[in-house]
Amino acid sequence: MDLSARLISWYQENKRDLPWRNTTEAYIIWLSEIILQQTRVEQGLPYFERFAAHYPTVSHFAAATEDEVLRLWQGLGYYSRGRNMLKTARQVLNDYNGIFPTSYTELIKLKGIGEYTAAAISSFSANEAKAVVDGNVYRVLARYYGIDEPINSPKGKKTFQQIADEVLDVNRPALHNQAMMEFGAMLCKPKNPACGICPVHLDCIAFKQNATTSLPVKLKN
Ligand code: ADE
Repeated sequence: MDLSARLISWYQENKRDLPWRNTTEAYIIWLSEIILQQTRVEQGLPYFERFAAHYPTVSHFAAATEDEVLRLWQGLGYYSRGRNMLKTARQVLNDYNGIFPTSYTELIKLKGIGEYTAAAISSFSANEAKAVVDGNVYRVLARYYGIDEPINSPKGKKTFQQIADEVLDVNRPALHNQAMMEFGAMLCKPKNPACGICPVHLDCIAFKQNATTSLPVKLKN
């Protein structure tokens, strides 16, 4: 079995039950992905619940005031995310009639939505074959394939995106992307990765060379 198939099997047995995984609604997935940027799942979860309850649709969100959004955001940090979300919600209301786009090409045009978020929303909501590359994915690929190119150099980013695209299971993009991220978050952790229970450790270059602590490489800036 290839990397994707094994991680998908692992994911199906071991995944956490998280609310944004039980929906294909692009708006709800967008909420979760923006909240989870630079934020741990445990910390972001109550905020996700709060926003989803306050603003059940993107039209509800678009009708909020900035003060209200920032009040709900209180304690989560990086407040520009909250302000940008309001701009995005209003853009979706005005330019897309309140129907949140699901295609990568449309999503990437929206304020505050970059490559990662566009890939996440389009794959999770519409099963578009786009590979997500976040910190988890960099770590898993760097270790498994033994790649010591820096993850934050332009060349390194290109290399990792290419490998992520090759590894992607185009028949199961949503499942594949969730599995890669969950595996990185739960087993292939930055510190003390759980190689002893890892389903792919025998084929992992970093494990075989005892190099998990030195991968991925990140340049100081
Ligand atoms: N972090 C960012 N996106 C996530 C997701 N979809 N599931 C779990 N953690 C995440």
